[in-house]
Amino acid sequence: MDKVYIFDTTLRDGEQSPGASMTLNEKIRIATALEKMQVDIIEAGFAIASEGDFQSVKAVADTVKESQVCSLSRANEQDIQRSADALKNATQPRIHTFIATSPIHMEFKLRMEPEAVLEQAIQAVKFARKFTDNVEFSPEDAGRSDIDFLCRIIEQTIAAGATTINIPDTVGYTFPKEFGNIFKQVIERVPNSHKAIFSAHCHNDLGLAVANSMAAVENGARQIECTINGLGERAGNTALEEVVMAIRTRQDFTQKQTQIDATQLVPTSRLVAGITGFPVQPNKAIVGANAFAHESGIHQAGVLKSRETYEIMNAEDVGWQSNRLVLGKHSGRAALKDRLQQLGYAIESDERLQTIFQNFKDLADRKHEIYDDDLQALISHVEATEMTEQNLYQLISLKVVTGTDEKPQAQAIVRVGGIEKQGEAIGDGAVDATFKAIESIIQSGVKLLLYSVTNVTDGTDAQGEVSIRIEANGAVVNGQAYDTDIINASAKAYINALNRINDVGKLHPQKESV
Ligand code: KIV
Ligand code: ZN
Repeated sequence: MDKVYIFDTTLRDGEQSPGASMTLNEKIRIATALEKMQVDIIEAGFAIASEGDFQSVKAVADTVKESQVCSLSRANEQDIQRSADALKNATQPRIHTFIATSPIHMEFKLRMEPEAVLEQAIQAVKFARKFTDNVEFSPEDAGRSDIDFLCRIIEQTIAAGATTINIPDTVGYTFPKEFGNIFKQVIERVPNSHKAIFSAHCHNDLGLAVANSMAAVENGARQIECTINGLGERAGNTALEEVVMAIRTRQDFTQKQTQIDATQLVPTSRLVAGITGFPVQPNKAIVGANAFAHESGIHQAGVLKSRETYEIMNAEDVGWQSNRLVLGKHSGRAALKDRLQQLGYAIESDERLQTIFQNFKDLADRKHEIYDDDLQALISHVEATEMTEQNLYQLISLKVVTGTDEKPQAQAIVRVGGIEKQGEAIGDGAVDATFKAIESIIQSGVKLLLYSVTNVTDGTDAQGEVSIRIEANGAVVNGQAYDTDIINASAKAYINALNRINDVGKLHPQKESV
């Protein structure tokens, strides 16, 4: 009774964040990291959203063995069948089905009467039970639903076979006391509530997602739905690292525990930030760069005398490590393979090791000290290159001339569907000239929404990580790339984002009606 199950929805609700779409390989990498962290349930996606989503859910279900793998479905047979098909090979499959129950959603989104919603929810759960005995039901927008209706639909969906009842605060509207009270009332009033595990799913529109999730746990919830770094639409979802550490650090108060391996929190946070291009703010709890930094003199003096004066957690316990020098120019294949394995990357074949090793040597020629963060970036680069080979656009070469007294000029060669094309442009800076030269070839007409550069490690020879966000025909996508030369990284990130535009256009589970 004291265990709280951690349900991670980074790959589904997190991915719904505009621009956070991930490739199949990236999803497998994140799912593998979540499994290593001992997440109980991984929501791998919304299988009916697109062929790509179906394949990603299937690939995660095929790969992950220790965690349950879940797929979201609206409350209809087609969605549920698609989830069941994607989860066919999962060791521990879960089907998650939902329908909105708040008056505003039923009237304006679904255009359905409450009785019809109730009936559809029951039928959906019964249909899902044909494929697995692990079925979750969510009354969407429960935070703004009528409590009597909520109790009725929960009682009847449990009777129909739902084993987990998830109560979402879909629009992040409730206050902790109010949200906790929904759990208290439902668990007390629903006669068969003991037959299901209750779950909290909070959004962070008022910055209350973690507080609301903890209030739910205080009132009987035994599952928390959350994402790494709190990723998610609008202000995001409950941050996994925050609830896990709140439960653990204040076990004296919560009397609860999770099975999460907290040392994986920081590496997984970095992995998700790197893949999605959504950086972590420095003052973010647990995983922000300053979360354990003591700037003020008073604090430093206190920490030196006794760490507990100002630190309530150990940095090492959540996975912070000093950025150790691991490899250099003279390191061999075996040392590289060994370090990558320690970082959680399985190198499947000698051929793949050779590709990674070649990239490592190229990097070591430009940068003498190779840190763990460099290796993570290197793997992302190798994967992006492999993807690019199957992609429409590929950067072949770039030449940029710039100086104090001249307007920057760029010449780019880009392979477009197998044909090499050349373009050149003058710009207001080296990056501007580069993007214009690429645009003169591709003529995508996309709007640049975000351009940011961060250093992977310290020093002027550090690799730069460039994140780009672009908008085309209403779709928003991100692109990332790493290089010790930030102009090259910028060009590659731009091409990476342009290639991803072709992946968008999938269904949004909550914006389409059932
Ligand atoms: O926020 C929400 O209501 C959801 C449901 C689909 C569970 O994400
Ligand atoms: Zn949600």
